[in-house]
Amino acid sequence: MRALIDGRAMAQALSARTAEAVAELRARDATPVLAVVLVGNDPASEVYVARKLAECCRVGIGSIEQRLSEDCTEAQILTLIDSLNADDDVHGILIQLPLPKGINAGRVLDRISPAKDVDGFHPVNVGRLSTGTGGLVPCTPLGIMMLLDSVIDDYRGLNVVVIGKSNIVGKPVAMLLLEREATVTVTHIETRNLPDITRGADVIVAAAGAPHLVRGYWVKPGAVVVDVGITQITDHDGRKRIVGDCATHELDHAKAVTPVPGGVGPMTIACLLSNTVTAARKTVN
Ligand code: GUN
Repeated sequence: MRALIDGRAMAQALSARTAEAVAELRARDATPVLAVVLVGNDPASEVYVARKLAECCRVGIGSIEQRLSEDCTEAQILTLIDSLNADDDVHGILIQLPLPKGINAGRVLDRISPAKDVDGFHPVNVGRLSTGTGGLVPCTPLGIMMLLDSVIDDYRGLNVVVIGKSNIVGKPVAMLLLEREATVTVTHIETRNLPDITRGADVIVAAAGAPHLVRGYWVKPGAVVVDVGITQITDHDGRKRIVGDCATHELDHAKAVTPVPGGVGPMTIACLLSNTVTAARKTVN
């Protein structure tokens, strides 16, 4: 019964549409440009940033990589953001998280111009999302909605359980689902009797960062399950692999599930590119 929602194929299709939009902007001499700021040398962040820059290149978006050392000051980061905010040739600014200890991430993100905030983390964009008044939407939640849209026509009244209350995924995806008039329950690490709650769900969005948390008996037959988890584990034979928050092999009774890898992950980067085009378009129209 279970169908896999192919995030790679959907991300490719979205990126193809983005590439067309980029070509139109380029023809009008308005090449979209994304600035990516990486502070320090966290290995995972290095990989993510390299991937983001490569994808920009693939669709024709210009990119600027700005690197600051691990021991730079918050003031240096803020000065860099000020200069990127003031640069009319830069349309999107992304500060790769996490920032080194001692740097106040909230103050840093608040400094980005909301119009260039392609991550959608600035309080103005968070406020716009929660009031349903436009703005740039965080990439992972945007990607999750596109994956869900491929299997759900009408969200009205559906019971959706979100596992995880992060600012990056849990809270914003809950807002997007509320806009579609789903009945949304946001759960988290302190939630009691979580399986009792998920068993009533038509849709589960698992974003807890806890490998194989969601077991087969947590999911009612015919439910749709989006797995946002990406945790690297070491198998008993010593091999490393990426697993999600769901025990997908126990979910044959679900209607559809997103695989890990190849589900939400590819959509996140495709949505970053699409947000960069959205930000660039606003400056030319
Ligand atoms: N680090 C992990 N996820 C993200 C993300 O979505 N945006 C940024 N800027 N950093 C991250």
